[in-house]
Amino acid sequence: MRLDVVTIFPEYLEPLDVSLVGKARARGRLDVHVHDLRAWTYDRHHTVDDTPYGGGPGMVMMTEPWGEALDTVLADGYEAGSHEPALIVPTPSGRPFTQELAVELSERPWLVFTPARYEGIDRRVFDEYATRMPVYEVSIGDYVLAGGEAAVLVITEAVARLLPGVLGNAESHRDDSFAPGTMANLLEGPVYTKPPRWRAREIPEVLLSGHHGKIARWRRDEALKRTTAFRPDLIERCDPKAFDKKDRETLSALGWVPDPEGERYGRFWRRVDDVEE
Ligand SMILES: C[S@@+](CC[C@H](N)C(=O)[O-])C[C@H]1O[C@@H](n2cnc3c(N)ncnc32)[C@H](O)[C@@H]1O
Repeated sequence: MRLDVVTIFPEYLEPLDVSLVGKARARGRLDVHVHDLRAWTYDRHHTVDDTPYGGGPGMVMMTEPWGEALDTVLADGYEAGSHEPALIVPTPSGRPFTQELAVELSERPWLVFTPARYEGIDRRVFDEYATRMPVYEVSIGDYVLAGGEAAVLVITEAVARLLPGVLGNAESHRDDSFAPGTMANLLEGPVYTKPPRWRAREIPEVLLSGHHGKIARWRRDEALKRTTAFRPDLIERCDPKAFDKKDRETLSALGWVPDPEGERYGRFWRRVDDVEE
């Protein structure tokens, strides 16, 4: 996979050299190119922003440097044999970045990131490139960062670990929290390693039992407990077909019941003590 990142802070992307993403690069799974947007400015101050039309606070990144930068980056990539680019636009007003989207992006051969600063980039840039390639406007969460570089690191790491040959154990990401392909999107429960006793703290006995069925059941119950505690919204939306009899017993013990009334709103479960609307 080829990655291009155009930014006014190339040094912010240095973490792409370390750990998993660094290894993916070293193994030839990822071909990363970071570009300084200011290379496509021609005035003494290397200006990339201007005041917003319509007034208001902050500055907006200008069409010209972005247009020239993207034209050059795309031409270079095509010349090097890359194909089917997709533009990834980090923005708090984008669609939420999810594991499902990470999987979708990991199947693409070439991602071009446009992390912005200030109030973002003049809209016409995205309208222009949307005529030539898919444009994904992506938010990494409901908060506002000063710039999109941290979002690029987040998205790249989530995508890179899904590429074949990057994780030591190909099974690792199948059990992840949010792993797509299961009807129930549950958070992963706690994990333990040696020693079996640390500061008088034991590990759950079942994990030493060697009994695969019981271990799987324990893990599933812990996932249900954690999801009901931290992400009740995920339980509410779970397809009832995703749960077996034991799951239902655990959910019931945790105070959750099916919600036939809520089904038409895509809410299949509710807490017993939730007041009916
Ligand atoms: C200060 S923010 C601009 C915020 C803009 N006024 C808004 O509310 O949409 C500058 C840049 O940081 C990046 N950014 C900030 N928060 C983000 C988030 N939650 N997800 C992805 N990118 C984000 C985007 O590239 C954004 O254009």
